[in-house]
Amino acid sequence: MNERVVRGFYDRFAGIYDVVFNGLLQSGRLEAVRAMNLRPGQSVLEVGVGTGLNLELYPRGVRVVGVDISLPMLREALERQHQRPPVADVRLARMDALRLAFADDAFDVVYAPYVVTVVPSPRRVVAEMARVCRPGGRVVLVNHFGSSKKPVRWFEKRLTPLTSHVGFRIDVPLDAILGVPGLVKEHERRVNPFGLVRLVVFGKRA
Ligand SMILES: C[S@@+](CC[C@H](N)C(=O)[O-])C[C@H]1O[C@@H](n2cnc3c(N)ncnc32)[C@H](O)[C@@H]1O
Repeated sequence: MNERVVRGFYDRFAGIYDVVFNGLLQSGRLEAVRAMNLRPGQSVLEVGVGTGLNLELYPRGVRVVGVDISLPMLREALERQHQRPPVADVRLARMDALRLAFADDAFDVVYAPYVVTVVPSPRRVVAEMARVCRPGGRVVLVNHFGSSKKPVRWFEKRLTPLTSHVGFRIDVPLDAILGVPGLVKEHERRVNPFGLVRLVVFGKRA
């Protein structure tokens, strides 16, 4: 993925993002936040917060920092916060997922909804997420990953040059992000209609 193309895409389409991706992908977001099992006082870093479609799902008493590379997407998230104030304590900041400006071990949960296949290096982003997650905390992904079935993989490979123009890849296998030092996969299941999206929960070794 080319960083400039991705940013350009989200900058241009921020205003209509929700029309396409709200309902379609919302059940994955709901299941991901449920799987975090959050308690008051805990902190979450949401990487690629976009227009803020997850923000109202976090429970009261939780501190959330949402970061995104696209200012227009963040503006939409800010607008959403004004219209539908979340019960959690939410802050937003512009930041590149490849260079998170936080100390090591800073958050209880680090979450990327529909993000790791829109960045140039999915594995580097997951490693960066692991760095800022505290030992014993969780790294949570909800995303489409490339199929292990040969015919589907063939189709995904051919389609990816097209989807790349609209800001994401569909051929990145889950294997590409496994084995990040310190992370252990705890849970994986299919969510969303047709099971095209997977919820993957990693624990960070204490
Ligand atoms: C498919 S959208 C997902 C938005 C939101 N998480 C959701 O659930 O709808 C991908 C988001 O990742 C952001 N993004 C892309 N590259 C990024 C990067 N390098 N660092 C931070 N955010 C990035 C885009 O601007 C966009 O808001």
